[in-house]
Amino acid sequence: MARHVIAPVDEFPPGTRKFLEIDGRPIAVFNIKGEYFGLSNRCPHQGAALCEGPLIGLAQSKDPGEIEYSRLGEIIRCPWHGWEFDVRTGQSYCDPRRFRVKAYPAHVEPGASVVKGPYVAETIPVRVESNYVVVEL
Ligand code: FES
Repeated sequence: MARHVIAPVDEFPPGTRKFLEIDGRPIAVFNIKGEYFGLSNRCPHQGAALCEGPLIGLAQSKDPGEIEYSRLGEIIRCPWHGWEFDVRTGQSYCDPRRFRVKAYPAHVEPGASVVKGPYVAETIPVRVESNYVVVEL
């Protein structure tokens, strides 16, 4: 693994992201509230530049028509088809292959109990070393 210095911490404030390419691999590093996370900038659905999408919150619903957002700025929404991934883990929580125009019995469950989707964006380990943000690939 080779060590790659991304930026001084002072130049990488919370809420920002940096794009880079290492050995031909597109990567993005995010500063989420002072913690750093790396993701492959390639959506596992159809290959869009995932990390160019907006950072949003986690939408959860206790009742139909009521949506609450938590974890603001920690979920990335793919700019092509809107699939959402947790920046901390790369995990998606949605399986669009199950969505159909057909009636099914349904009930309400807390969002956290919903089964995780099969798609996971590749995460890249990031750490701070002597006030520099560093990834190893
Ligand atoms: S390519 Fe990302 S959601 Fe389709």
